[in-house]
Amino acid sequence: MYRLGLIGEAVEQSKSPDIHHHLLNEAGLTGQYHLFSIKPTQIEETLNQMRDGGFKGFNVTVPYKEAIIPYLDRLEDSAAVMQSVNTVNIKDGELVGYNTDGVGYVESLYRTYPNWYQHRHENTVLVLGAGGAAKGVIHALLKHQINKVIVANRTYTKAETLAQQFDGVEAISMNQVDDVKPHVDLILNTTRVGMTPNDHELVISLDRVPDHVIISDIIYQPTWTPLLKEAKERGHCLLFGESMLYYQAVKAFEIWTNES
Ligand code: ATR
Repeated sequence: MYRLGLIGEAVEQSKSPDIHHHLLNEAGLTGQYHLFSIKPTQIEETLNQMRDGGFKGFNVTVPYKEAIIPYLDRLEDSAAVMQSVNTVNIKDGELVGYNTDGVGYVESLYRTYPNWYQHRHENTVLVLGAGGAAKGVIHALLKHQINKVIVANRTYTKAETLAQQFDGVEAISMNQVDDVKPHVDLILNTTRVGMTPNDHELVISLDRVPDHVIISDIIYQPTWTPLLKEAKERGHCLLFGESMLYYQAVKAFEIWTNES
């Protein structure tokens, strides 16, 4: 019996229970995925409740991905690099933090576009945004030996700081994006531009983006961001935020179920 869950501020509408109940069914396992909408002052008691209640693990979402870290016993590599946790595994009473967002994105890319993935050693990815989400995806892309990452951000200094943390990452400002368009093979939006309620804004123009470039968004609300709508009209291959959401869940599920 797998007791699993999600903690966040307002998680009532989360799609995670559906995804994890589906994954449990597929694996032939029994279990329940519980939702915990909590205040910051309730983090510790909620964790104790889960540890004592025999939970195998849980997910963490906004705004607690960083705030949870002091309550954990240790962090696995990706969570340590990102200083952000979206998955906690409980083993022998020990709470270990992981971050599956980046590997979830790479898995969604591999599953959706296996040919592109096969050529990843020659491919360049343009990442828009230099926040926590960008960092996780860049870490995972480099771990999977992508040829090159270019990171473009509204605040250039943040892109520069991010690029300094990784080998193989070049920082540019948003107004240099036009210059690199001909040299990229995938564009990924990690900014908040296009997210509900700002779902009318287009993060960059797709003029002069070569036809073969995959256009991808980590935003999943709405499913069709202005960027993805525009990309579809222009005939680009698309990769949806919902796909990343699904595969970050698959990766969390593997952590909980692979070690018993
Ligand atoms: P997350 O964890 O989702 O990545 P974050 O760390 O707050 O969130 O980062 C948000 C990213 O979206 C940043 O790259 C931010 O750009 P700045 O560093 O310039 O603030 C980007 N972003 C948010 N609103 C934006 C907007 N209106 N236009 C362009 N970029 C925006």
